[in-house]
Amino acid sequence: MKILVIGGAGYIGSHVAREFLDSGDSVTVFDDLSSGMRENLFPEAHFIEGSIMDYAALKAALSAGYDAAVHLAAFKAAGESMVAPGKYATNNIAGTVNILNACVETGCKALVFSSSAAVYGEPRYLPIDEKHPTEPENFYGFTKLEIERVLSWYDRLTGLRYAALRYFNAAGYDEAGRVKGVERNPANLIPVVMEAAAGMRGELQVFGDDYETKDGTGVRDYVHVSDLAKAHVASLRRIVGTGESLTVNLGSEEGLSVMEIVEAARRLTGSPIPVKVVARRPGDPAKLVASSALARETLGWKAERSGLDSIVRTTWEQYRRARGIS
Ligand code: UD1
Repeated sequence: MKILVIGGAGYIGSHVAREFLDSGDSVTVFDDLSSGMRENLFPEAHFIEGSIMDYAALKAALSAGYDAAVHLAAFKAAGESMVAPGKYATNNIAGTVNILNACVETGCKALVFSSSAAVYGEPRYLPIDEKHPTEPENFYGFTKLEIERVLSWYDRLTGLRYAALRYFNAAGYDEAGRVKGVERNPANLIPVVMEAAAGMRGELQVFGDDYETKDGTGVRDYVHVSDLAKAHVASLRRIVGTGESLTVNLGSEEGLSVMEIVEAARRLTGSPIPVKVVARRPGDPAKLVASSALARETLGWKAERSGLDSIVRTTWEQYRRARGIS
């Protein structure tokens, strides 16, 4: 298939572009490089530098005739979304509406959309399945949920089929080292731990150790980015094959605490990784774990590379390469 990967120079987007290329599809990446990186582009893929806020550029790109678009061009810092809602409303909501309209106008009939477990908010029960109430705790999660609602209307009214993929905590790097970029100014746990291991920051701040969890630190469902990438390919084939849209969780179904990540990183990097326990981060739930039963049933998908060591090892390999650490 001929696929436009919007946001394909970013961390998840580049892994997704890689997976479609490996599956024999033709890929064009559309990215404004605001957080995406040139070094994440692959020679086999075409590249168009452009923004989803530029409707003319988007429509011109899609006018080349695509079977599908994959949309991963969003801002994702939940904390920032609470103090800069306009930025998130404009880029994440209005930008997506631009993509949908350009798809409809150019005859692109399928879209894979990066949604998030942030649509659920504070868990009412675990593991979280797709029937869990959707009450986002932050504006970022609200933007993702709002787009899912728009998608379901566009499905009914225009025939655009979609897969909304609710990622839990994306982590890890391509095992073969083909994705080169490391994120600038990361806020997520694993890149921050890696920066501490690489000596790029003095310590890791642990946001609270008094949660009701196995060791008091926050528990999350970390899912390897290459597992996520495979789910994009499988879900696109599925919606095109069945003519039906779908919304699914993508998680490993295993909960790992902050300290379990730190201990694995100490073991695998040989660095002491100093930690300092500080106050809880507002809006952080104690524990988030996915049920991925629906993805298993509908896509035949399950997380295969999302073990603790695989996630930490592949990320560390990448940091070592990028930082020239032997
Ligand atoms: C966050 C967002 C989520 C978004 C995801 C993708 C919130 C509440 N959630 O997930 O909506 O989809 O990022 O980017 O912001 N931690 C530390 N020290 C750190 C960083 C993190 O202790 O320096 C802890 C956190 O408290 C949490 C765990 O590590 O328990 C994971 O945090 P993080 O990687 O930021 O992901 P989430 O908060 O789960």
